[in-house]
Amino acid sequence: MSLSLSAEQPAVPDVADDGVWLECIECGETFAPFDDVRYTCDECGGLLEVRYADLPTFDDFEGHGVWRYAAALPFEAGVSIQEGATPLYEVPRLEDEIGIEALRIKHEGMNPTGSFKDRGMTVGVQVAKELGVGRLACASTGNTSAALAAYGTRGDMETLVLLPAGKVAAGKIAQASLHDARILEVDGNFDACLDIVQELAAKGEVYLLNSLNPFRLEGQKTIGLEILEGFLADYDTVPDRIVLPVGNAGNTSALYKAFRELVQAGELDEDDVPKLTGVQADGAAPMVEAIENDADEVRRWDDVETRATAIRIGNPVNAPKAIPGIRETGGTAVAVSDEEITDAQRALAREGIGVEPASAASVAGLRKLRASGVVDDDERVACLTTGHLLKDPDAAAAAGGDPEPVPADTDDILEHLQQ
Ligand code: F0G
Repeated sequence: MSLSLSAEQPAVPDVADDGVWLECIECGETFAPFDDVRYTCDECGGLLEVRYADLPTFDDFEGHGVWRYAAALPFEAGVSIQEGATPLYEVPRLEDEIGIEALRIKHEGMNPTGSFKDRGMTVGVQVAKELGVGRLACASTGNTSAALAAYGTRGDMETLVLLPAGKVAAGKIAQASLHDARILEVDGNFDACLDIVQELAAKGEVYLLNSLNPFRLEGQKTIGLEILEGFLADYDTVPDRIVLPVGNAGNTSALYKAFRELVQAGELDEDDVPKLTGVQADGAAPMVEAIENDADEVRRWDDVETRATAIRIGNPVNAPKAIPGIRETGGTAVAVSDEEITDAQRALAREGIGVEPASAASVAGLRKLRASGVVDDDERVACLTTGHLLKDPDAAAAAGGDPEPVPADTDDILEHLQQ
């Protein structure tokens, strides 16, 4: 089975609970959503998706933030810190420089903990409550750990996070720590941390809240829904393309799912679905490799390196959901260098938009694809910036100018300013 963009409505299985069930994307096996803890298919080990008997329409959406889209989610409300409703900034100078019809920046760094992860956690932590689990856990390059810590403690649950030692930006560790997570610094990379936390989850020690958890991706669908509503309001049309950084490919999968559901509901024409365009760093680009080689499976990269530590990932676990998303929407994937990422971070900063390096990868990728002619000049594009500048203060300081030491004297300072 492959996840295709078709208007076919799903058949509702007996296991559905209030019109909600889990379905394996590989073998089609279905499961009740909240009876047992389950992350992958019992039959074949495939990835699971949340499915609904009633698909959402734009008219169903009311209110503000992630829970505006309750009609597209398994619950009416969740453990919330007012996530979502992030800005869709105009960037006229960048738009001119890149040379496209319209460019907007969907800045997910404006969420409560400074990244898009909050959208997934408001749903995921609510599921944990429904299931009655005790300890929540994740492996993380940093942002997931910050969001899990904040939402876990808000929901009065214990949290455990596994981080790759020495490879997580300072702001993210500070958040996880202050929001009361127990932090384990693992002598290994992110992929090793994820292997371990999956084993702990399989032993029933923890409830896993990485994006392998299908409920997290439900919350992240709302990024796509907000972008569509924003473009419809401002341009009377949906964007031609959405460009986003890729790590585990959770967002790519989530946006594709949001659009598939709108197509099934008859709210969006199959041909109008935005082209999903993924960007990775040169040193951690297994998805780009798979798309370029037209491969069905992604090869795990054991050695990964990039300044964009949030996407320093060699084994994108959601690839089976994301690859059809990129292909079926007519999108593509591209890798960019660390220098291109930092240049894009500076260009966004010049527009007043502060992002962490991984976020800037989207703009760096768009620049590259426009320069090579893959993106046309008449396209309307949204770039996703996934995390806030203050997440990684060291990278920001390194990309910016140095402070100038001066004496505490006005005349000396005036003289200094002449130089
Ligand atoms: N951008 C940022 C800032 C991220 O933190 C991540 C993932 C991504 C992009 C990639 O998103 O996995 O949906 O393709 N960070 C995870 C973490 C891995 O642990 O915080 P994806």
